[in-house]
This record gives sequence, C-alpha cells and structure tokens, in this order.
Amino acid sequence: MELRHATAGDAVSLSGVHVETWRATYVGQVPDRHAEERIAVAQERDWVTHQERRVVAGGGVLAAVDDGDVVGFCEYGPTEDDDDDPSRVGHIMRLYLRPQSQSRGAGRMLLEAACERLAARGFDSVTLWTLDDPRNRAIGFYVHLGWSREGVRDDDPPAVRYRRRLPSSS
Ligand SMILES: CC(C)(COP(=O)(O)OP(=O)(O)OC[C@H]1O[C@@H](n2cnc3c(N)ncnc32)[C@H](O)[C@@H]1OP(=O)(O)O)[C@@H](O)C(=O)NCCC(=O)NCCS
Repeated sequence: MELRHATAGDAVSLSGVHVETWRATYVGQVPDRHAEERIAVAQERDWVTHQERRVVAGGGVLAAVDDGDVVGFCEYGPTEDDDDDPSRVGHIMRLYLRPQSQSRGAGRMLLEAACERLAARGFDSVTLWTLDDPRNRAIGFYVHLGWSREGVRDDDPPAVRYRRRLPSSS
C-alpha cells in the first residue's frame, strides 16, 4: 500500500471508491431517502474540479494505492465550520476505504498523513464530522486514534464532530 496525492487521472477511481464505500457503510444505517440523496450527490461529483478547488483552498486529496489501484482516499483542508477559524483549524472532509481494503492499516495511514500535512501548514487542530450512531464503526476508529468527541449537530441523521490537537510544526 502506498500513499500519494490524487491526480486528475484518479477522478473515476475516487468516485468509484466513494460511491461503493458509502453504499456498503451507510445503506440500512441511515434513512433510505437520505441514502438515495447522498449516493446521487456522490455519483454526480466531478472529482477533477472538486480536487482542484480543494487544493486551491489549501488542502488536498490523498489516495491509497494498492497494486496500482486506488482503494481509498482522504480529503482534507481548512475547516468550513462557522464556529472555527479556518486559518487555525483543519478538517477531514472525507475518508473512505473500499470494504475489501479496510482493517489493514490504510485508514490510519491516510488520516495520519493528512494530519501531518495540516500540521505542516500551521493548523493547530483538526476536526471531522461523522454519523452519530452506535453502529458507526468509524467512531471507535477515531477514538482509538486519540480524537475527542464534541457537539452533536441535530441533523437527520445526527452527526457528531471530533477533534484532535496537532503538533506544532515549528
Ligand atoms: C473507518 C475507516 C476509514 C477505518 O480505516 P481502516 O483501514 O479500516 O482502519 P485501520 O486498519 O487503519 O485501523 C487503525 C487502528 O484503528 C483500530 N480500529 C479500527 N476500527 C476500530 C473500532 N471501531 N474501534 C476501535 N478500534 C478500531 C484498528 O484496530 C487499528 O488499531 P491498531 O493499529 O492499534 O491495531 C474505514 O474502515 C472506512 O473507510 N470505513 C467506511 C467509511 C467510513 O466510515 N468512513 C469514515 C467517515 S467519517
């Protein structure tokens, strides 16, 4: 497994990983209407443009590559939350590993690599939102890696924010 920044040529693979993993993870866990909407949005995303915008905003998309195939990715950048300072707080927008590639350490590698890049750019802390549901395995993963739970957003379905301090880059 190797990590590298995704390129425009990875757009189809990123879309495939996103849609496949979203479906495998959340269908049956969130209301059907929500799942249909989110899968449709994921299918329509133009990853070439999306990725370019993320880089321009000061972030990026890291890809996990196994035997030449993109099997996962982590999208990161400055926070877009209204109550945090985007010059100090980074954010993990998306972290997805294809089901066959989970539980092999790649999620940790992607997340740590994204956090290292955010720390190197001077961010003090990093946040992410995840589904606030006991069936959401990602929560245990984040807690295991030292992330702390913050407030719940009263969406349908509800989401919860997690945060981790970043080491100073100086
Ligand atoms: C969540 C996800 C990114 C984790 O990646 P992964 O590659 O499966 O996890 P890793 O193998 O890197 O696990 C790293 C460590 O976390 C631990 N861990 C993983 N899930 C855990 C859980 N639910 N509870 C406790 N520890 C957990 C592992 O045991 C491992 O520990 P170790 O290295 O100390 O032995 C991945 O499973 C995934 O893409 N899931 C579906 C999509 C998703 O939920 N994305 C997150 C959206 S917010």
